[in-house]
Amino acid sequence: MTSGKRSRLVVLISGSGSNLQAFIDASKDGNLNADIVGVISNKADVLGLQRAQDAGISNEVLDHRAFPSREHFDAELGERVSSYQPDLVILAGFMRILTPDFVSRFAGHIMNIHPSLLPKYPGLHTHQRAIDAGDKKGGATVHFVTSDLDGGPAIVQAEVPIMGDDTADLLASRVLVQEHQIYPLAAHWFCEGRLTLENGVPQLNGNALQKTGFLFSTAITEQ
Ligand code: GRF
Repeated sequence: MTSGKRSRLVVLISGSGSNLQAFIDASKDGNLNADIVGVISNKADVLGLQRAQDAGISNEVLDHRAFPSREHFDAELGERVSSYQPDLVILAGFMRILTPDFVSRFAGHIMNIHPSLLPKYPGLHTHQRAIDAGDKKGGATVHFVTSDLDGGPAIVQAEVPIMGDDTADLLASRVLVQEHQIYPLAAHWFCEGRLTLENGVPQLNGNALQKTGFLFSTAITEQ
């Protein structure tokens, strides 16, 4: 279900790019009213770059180790991203902390996906931390990016059960399946103009979202 002009997306990756693939597929299948106009990886030779190549998407490597500081890297990254004139920047497994300057340059137009039910478990090793805490459910959160690491306003969450014999890897793969649903969906809402950020609060169809964002099961029927 799409309407209007297709948006321009730039996707930043560092690794396997399975979320990037979900965007590529959604864009082709008509579930995302956008074209991915560029992919930038801070690591060479990652599968995500191959996925971009295979889909005929312009892709490049910008190695953070070639820069004297985070600020220098982010300044160049910002230039490269801007050169694609994106409507939305998608962080998809991009394993770099971004400077406030970079974030403010794309404020309101940059999203991330984090593999936990935020505000639980910002940072790394989210699945192991959820298992160790004895949580009954895990999941993922799509959120707008602010300079508060993994702390920007939530857009949509998907939950999965945590089983008694779960390992972090098993849980991660269960969560990834959900990530691939909710991330292109959130971007689609944005591209359709149905999702906006008003004074730091995400609005979907003109209604303020709850603190943890839309719950995916509800979101499906909403779509
Ligand atoms: C995902 O779990 C995402 O939530 C996290 O990094 C992982 C990236 O996976 N930020 P992929 O590169 O999209 O396969």
